[in-house]
Amino acid sequence: MKWETFAPQFRGDVAAFAARRGLTPWEVWYAPYDEAVYAFVLARLGAEDVVLDIGAGDFRLALAAAGKVRKVYAVEVHPSLVADFLSRQGSRLPANLQVICGNALDFPMPPDVTAGVLLVRHSRRFATFFARLRAGGAERLFTSARWHMGVEVVNLQAPRVRFEAAPPGWYACACGAVGFKEPPSWRGSFSETVHEVSDCPQCRLSKEHEA
Ligand SMILES: C[S@@+](CC[C@H](N)C(=O)[O-])C[C@H]1O[C@@H](n2cnc3c(N)ncnc32)[C@H](O)[C@@H]1O
Repeated sequence: MKWETFAPQFRGDVAAFAARRGLTPWEVWYAPYDEAVYAFVLARLGAEDVVLDIGAGDFRLALAAAGKVRKVYAVEVHPSLVADFLSRQGSRLPANLQVICGNALDFPMPPDVTAGVLLVRHSRRFATFFARLRAGGAERLFTSARWHMGVEVVNLQAPRVRFEAAPPGWYACACGAVGFKEPPSWRGSFSETVHEVSDCPQCRLSKEHEA
């Protein structure tokens, strides 16, 4: 099956388009999520929030968020998606919605962002966006990029325990890896809370790979 058949933004050579932006064809895949995912995010945004929507797709969430929050920066790499949205909006485009057409990896982090949105389940850039948002002082990240299903709210400023010191049970790491730390004995109990960690086994593997 051709990409264009089920992903209409892929007009032309998607591989060349993605390569010119330093991305893979897989990364520039567009598909919307369920309404429940958008409703989950919108219910947790407040009037004082400034949102950075990374990979805004057809801008449906960015537009709805602009009706609730102080400001939205919405970054989408694909010109066709951006052009379609802007032509549909015309002069109705809300003043507090800034539309940026480009690779979000090249977009300097605005200093006023309180909440990031990375609803890109197949993104491999979680660690980069996590680090940038955290360093910029943002509080929360709504994302599907770590568990690859549903949507979670990551508390960006929460302290993280080193993997070694974390109790047995589920963990999610600043690098984007998730997993289950086995207890020393399966007779014991483990917490169902997901522990936010750093320096997980995947981090170590990546460092070894880079060395
Ligand atoms: C699975 S779609 C989801 C769209 C939107 N977040 C939503 O939930 O409706 C992923 C979108 O992210 C865009 N994207 C992926 N990586 C990007 C990047 N580095 N910069 C800007 N846009 C990106 C793709 O072009 C695609 O439109």
